[in-house]
Amino acid sequence: LDNGLAKTPPMGWLSWERFRCNTDCVNDPDNCISEKLFQTMTDLIVADGYATAGYEYINIDDCWLEKHRGHDGKLLADHQRFPNGIKALSDYIHSRGLKFGIYEDYGNFTCAGYPGIIGYEQEDAFQFAEWNVDYVKLDGCYSLPHEMDLGYSKFGKLLNSTGKAMVYSCSWPVYQIYAGIQPNFSAVKTYCNLWRNYDDIQDSWTSVENIIDYYGNNQDLIAPNAGPGHWNDPDMLIIGNFGLSYEQAKTQFAIWSILAAPLLMSVDLRTIRPQFKRILQNRKIIAVDQDPLGIQGRRIYKHKGIEIWSKPIGPLFNNFYSYAIAFINRRSDGTPSDISVTLKELGLIHFYGYRVEVNNIGQLYSNSFLFLCKKMSLTVNTKEERKEKNVKILFRPSEIGLA
Ligand code: GLA
Repeated sequence: LDNGLAKTPPMGWLSWERFRCNTDCVNDPDNCISEKLFQTMTDLIVADGYATAGYEYINIDDCWLEKHRGHDGKLLADHQRFPNGIKALSDYIHSRGLKFGIYEDYGNFTCAGYPGIIGYEQEDAFQFAEWNVDYVKLDGCYSLPHEMDLGYSKFGKLLNSTGKAMVYSCSWPVYQIYAGIQPNFSAVKTYCNLWRNYDDIQDSWTSVENIIDYYGNNQDLIAPNAGPGHWNDPDMLIIGNFGLSYEQAKTQFAIWSILAAPLLMSVDLRTIRPQFKRILQNRKIIAVDQDPLGIQGRRIYKHKGIEIWSKPIGPLFNNFYSYAIAFINRRSDGTPSDISVTLKELGLIHFYGYRVEVNNIGQLYSNSFLFLCKKMSLTVNTKEERKEKNVKILFRPSEIGLA
């Protein structure tokens, strides 16, 4: 969507995967979906360095509404959980230098059964603008997938007509894919800044693996649709929760960055362990995700549990890209695996050669990492040297700086 927003994949925090539809503020006041939760996360995003690392959106997901609209048809935030109303929360978030996102559904109800926007599209778009919303996630429960081309594009135009620029996150393709309809991606990317293609992420490595496989297996269809202003959304980062080991968490961060995915953390920032926080704030990996060229990377090798993923990044030199390359070992036999590849096999074919910068983001089952290859225009290799320029990757901890 060409609305001047999301020129790089959006970064921020989203409540759903970690806090779900917990509305019990009586028994669980610290974890229920309430203004207090979002204020607390806002404070921590700023205080704990996430904001300076690039995270800027604080996004409400489902379960913020009253079960019914007001008599005037307006959306009402749950008055007990959001006693000061949505505008006050939006102001709070903005006053801390961050941006505010909200959730609704192109349907009669949201997925959790709260009022959807159908029949109130215009009112709701203007309501969001009045609340100074910066980001709208529009889900697709309780609606008809074959009507989504029309519905989602119409709501996108309405958002635009308010004059308030809002990032527009769509679920349009995923509901159509499940209904057996091939999404019209050229329409999707015209009307949406980001969109979901696949299942909801759950707090498990299996779920992350399923998403990685879906994006790899369908990359010819999916990857070309990404670019500045329009991104595929493989769903939230679950790093720092209960389901991923440290190594698995690093792998999610590496692959999401290779995919130029939105980086939306869904984690309790009050209790996150320092090593997970360090992953989420790893500047070099974030830079891969946020590379201004906005090219979604691809899986270029998959054999016997080893995968190589590659993403073209800047700087461009003589029309040749630099690359971020991720190696993943998904084997469970526990011993390090050897793999040997040439630069050519990695797609690195520039005459002048490359400077290899290893950015160890760790090991999965003790062996998976990512490195960046930045071209060096000044290093001229002789033909012989180039021939020998094989990159031998030995997945031994000491060799990748993990003593
Ligand atoms: C759907 C979406 C999730 C979340 C829930 C909320 O399942 O895909 O991301 O928003 O609805 O009910």
